[in-house]
Amino acid sequence: MRFFILIVLVVFLGMNYAFAAGDAEKPPQMDWSFSGPFGTYDRGALQRGFQVYKQVCSACHGMDLKSYRNLTDLGFSEDEVKAIAAEYTVIDGPNDEGEMFERPARPSDRFKNPYPNEEAAKYANNGALPPDMSLITKARKDGANYTYGILVGYEEAPAEKELMAGQYYNKYMAGNVIAMAPPLSDGIIGYEDGTDETVEQYAKDVTQFLVWAAEPELEERKQMGIKVILFLLVFSGIMYAVKKKIWADVKH
Ligand code: HEC
Repeated sequence: MRFFILIVLVVFLGMNYAFAAGDAEKPPQMDWSFSGPFGTYDRGALQRGFQVYKQVCSACHGMDLKSYRNLTDLGFSEDEVKAIAAEYTVIDGPNDEGEMFERPARPSDRFKNPYPNEEAAKYANNGALPPDMSLITKARKDGANYTYGILVGYEEAPAEKELMAGQYYNKYMAGNVIAMAPPLSDGIIGYEDGTDETVEQYAKDVTQFLVWAAEPELEERKQMGIKVILFLLVFSGIMYAVKKKIWADVKH
């Protein structure tokens, strides 16, 4: 009986989930270097992913929780980070005369947001707000695969699906309709390390960069987990030996 209830529950929850997800397909399950207990980021992919974000996504998506100095995690030197920051102009102030002024960004500044406020962001995007990318891979279920899926999931809309101006068909978006034009196409970003310049490769790299942005401590966390498990194994061994020794003389 209990087993039966369990089955009913699982089927019911499963159905619920299927409905909640709309018509969206389950995103492709990618083989990421950062998955699994020994997972690590690939520095090359992170740097290329930053390049994709910088040259394409940052035109519409801010990353308000990141500062330029965080980019040293990706393997950039302090001087390289200074140079990257200095490409942007930020507003600072007020100065002694009470005026706000512009200056080049410094490593301690947050990533520059493409829009001054949400209203401007919506106005520029047909009323749709491009979400902040700092935590997107954590904010969505199966976030890395989902983000990758959105970037490669554009298709010709089926005949019965009506799209309004500024809407696109994407098989991994809930409801299959997204207000973001396909941001990537083959060859739009030049990679210096000879990596393929394809939509799939760009999508993989920028996704890894976004996972790093949301979980910069992932590698340390995993290493700590392994150390804890090793410690527990050794500790159990010692305790077992101690127990044997203490009880050795006790007669049955
Ligand atoms: C021209 C502006 C523009 C560019 C460039 C752009 N996006 Fe978007 N993006 C949007 C808008 C607008 C939305 C909101 C779409 C919606 O709600 O239907 C969006 C939505 C998304 C979503 C879905 C978020 C969700 O709510 O589930 C992801 C993921 C995403 N963008 C990632 C990217 C990445 C990665 C890049 C760079 C490769 C990029 N975008 C480039 C405008 C843009």
